[in-house]
Amino acid sequence: MLFKSLICWDLLNSVNKMEPVIQIKDLNKSFGDSHVLRNFNMAINAGENLAILGKSGSGKSVLIKCIISLMEVDSGEMIVLGKDIQLLNSDELDSLRAEVGFLFQSNALYDSMTIRENLEFPLRRHWSKEERKKGADAAVKEALEDVGLSHTIDMMPAELSGGMRKRIALARALILRPKVIMYDEPTTGLDPITSREISNLMLSVQKKYKSAALIISHDLNCIKMTSNRVIMLIEGTRYAEDTYENLRKSEDPKIKEFFD
Ligand SMILES: Nc1ncnc2c1ncn2[C@@H]1O[C@H](COP(=O)(O)OP(=O)(O)O)[C@@H](O)[C@H]1O
Ligand SMILES: [Mg+2]
Repeated sequence: MLFKSLICWDLLNSVNKMEPVIQIKDLNKSFGDSHVLRNFNMAINAGENLAILGKSGSGKSVLIKCIISLMEVDSGEMIVLGKDIQLLNSDELDSLRAEVGFLFQSNALYDSMTIRENLEFPLRRHWSKEERKKGADAAVKEALEDVGLSHTIDMMPAELSGGMRKRIALARALILRPKVIMYDEPTTGLDPITSREISNLMLSVQKKYKSAALIISHDLNCIKMTSNRVIMLIEGTRYAEDTYENLRKSEDPKIKEFFD
């Protein structure tokens, strides 16, 4: 009996491991006559870095906003960490958001708060007073160490460079130990050296926390460095899906256009 239940447990575990952390099925989203996402499909597996490459205005940010339910979809299904997000009430959605880190293109740091206060912000939302008393200082310290900016703890965002602000935004996205992190244009507006540093940081974070990532970008170097797999978003659909290297070799004119 015990043996049988052990086998069942093993089986269940392996099924869980195979389940994608994010699964999107036939997603449609329009604004008036503009059909931005058309029957869009994708899945991210645990521990995987999936990049979505698309031109400016192709619907990449819209896709991310739909996945974290900042935007309503017209039709389709979105399963995030095993939950159908369209069936969740606001409390359930709030708990789920604690498990999904989000790095906004604009960083979205609070200008009037110190770096420490910015990092404490998600803890105030998702941890009890007791938990914060015990663990907030250590959590802030570790998140800052992860991004190599311990010395900025009492500084204000305006005192930091663009690359440093991006790192702080990453530290804030990490502080609740999300299972998946969504990056919206993580290197846009940064110089090539800083972009490379951010890409390396994304990799080291994934290695340390074994998190999965959805990376939305049109920066080929960032995608090349960070992704295991790439989806090309063209005309609202998943036009192609492969490794960066294979896509780069493609003879398809619509794909070649991105690499020329
Ligand atoms: N809230 C909105 N209302 C109307 N149109 C929008 C809205 N958000 C995005 N769009 C349109 O959807 C398209 C995709 O936008 P977006 O996802 O931001 O592109 P990108 O791939 O550059 O991130 C654009 O044409 C944009 O104008
Ligand atoms: Mg965008």
